[in-house]
Order: sequence, then C-alpha cells, then structure tokens
Amino acid sequence: MQDLHTAIVGQLVSDNYRTAAVFSKYKIDFCCNGNRTVEEACAQKKVDAGLVAGELSAVLAIQPETGTDYNTWQPDTLADHIVNRHHSYVATQIPALQAYLHKLSSVHGGAHPELLTIGRLFNESAAELTMHMKKEELILFPYIRQMTAAQETGSKAAAPHFGAVGGPIAMMMHEHNQEGERFRQIQALSNDYRVPPDGCNTYRVTYALLKEFQDDLHLHIHLENNILFPKAADLEGRQAS
Ligand SMILES: [Fe+2]
Ligand SMILES: [Fe+2]
Repeated sequence: MQDLHTAIVGQLVSDNYRTAAVFSKYKIDFCCNGNRTVEEACAQKKVDAGLVAGELSAVLAIQPETGTDYNTWQPDTLADHIVNRHHSYVATQIPALQAYLHKLSSVHGGAHPELLTIGRLFNESAAELTMHMKKEELILFPYIRQMTAAQETGSKAAAPHFGAVGGPIAMMMHEHNQEGERFRQIQALSNDYRVPPDGCNTYRVTYALLKEFQDDLHLHIHLENNILFPKAADLEGRQAS
C-alpha cells in the first residue's frame, strides 16, 4: 500500500481522478501546484494530513481504477480530447456566464458589491482564456500531434519555429497559474459559491455554473500540466536522442 503522506498530489489525481474531490474539499490545489506531497500541501493549508490521507485511501479503496486513465492515452488523442471537451466547454460557457453575471450585478450589485468584482474578474479570465486556448490550438497542440505522428513512423517532427516545446509549455503553465489564482479570488469573494439568503434563482444558477466552470478548469489544467505537457517534453527528448 502506497504511503499517502508522501505521495505527490498531482500524481494521485493523474492515477485516479476521484481523489480530486478530496483535494477540492480542503482547497488543496492539485493542478497548478500539484507537484507537492500530500503532507506538504496539508501543512500549507493547515489541514491534518492524517485526515486527508484517510479520505484519500477510502476513495482509492472504494473505486479502484474505475476512472478514465488518461496516462495511457497517446498525446495527440489527449490534445484532441482537451480541445473537444474542455476548450469547447469554456467557449460555450463564457457568453452564458457573462450574461448571468451582468444581470446579477444590475439586480443585486447594490446589496452585494462583490458581484461587480466577480464580474470584472470573470471578464478578465474570459479574455485571457480565449487567447490562451488559441495559442494551444494553433501553436502547441499541432506540434504535439506532429511529434506523436513522427514517433509512430520512427521519424522526427520538423523543428518548430519556437525552438523547443519547453518554451510554450512554460508560458502555458504560467497562464494556468494566473487563471487558477483569479478563480481562487472569485471563489473567496463568492464565499465559496454560497448564495446569500436574499439570493434569487439567477443567483443560484450563476454560482452553480461558476463553480462548475472552476471545477472544469481544474481538470483541464491538470490534464495539461500533469499529463500532456510531460508527455510532450518526453516525446521531444526521445526524438532528439
Ligand atoms: Fe487548454
Ligand atoms: Fe492550457
């Protein structure tokens, strides 16, 4: 049995995505800051590591290997999945959420001024994420597909104009951190997406959608930072040797 105290947070989620629910519960970041042990992450959040390890082991025991094992996927398949599932989700949810937040601010902004800040932060995130996904779709992911195809035929992908894959990966990871941080602010401002007693149905729908958007973003960033990007760097390294 694996010692869950010293296990790496991002790796646990890679191996079994259901462990993400435990980390989310204790507000432990498993995507951008996933490269830490459970013990380190718990110490930082002042959470009892034994408690978290216990809940993790319960999740691992009840649901052995029933989640999708993205680790076994080829990098090009994973890139396609990320675009089809997560990029399209972000693109369709942005206008809907902007409309809800706009309406909510105009109705409840007087009594709940934090809604104006949440709306501004979400608009910033929407603009940044739209550009970010374009960079992945037009620059990084096509190169990952080329490397995967070259690997299958035993050839080498043409050298990319950006030199090496580490450059765009570092930039994407930096942008992931920024959006992770922006959503942490939204989460805090919304009191963890808790609708106030005077909140209407639009309030409930907006907060539920915002929470879902953040959860999806965490899985999306996790798939890129912890699975796709290391696979891409590994492929490039193998083709260079
Ligand atoms: Fe992405
Ligand atoms: Fe990304």
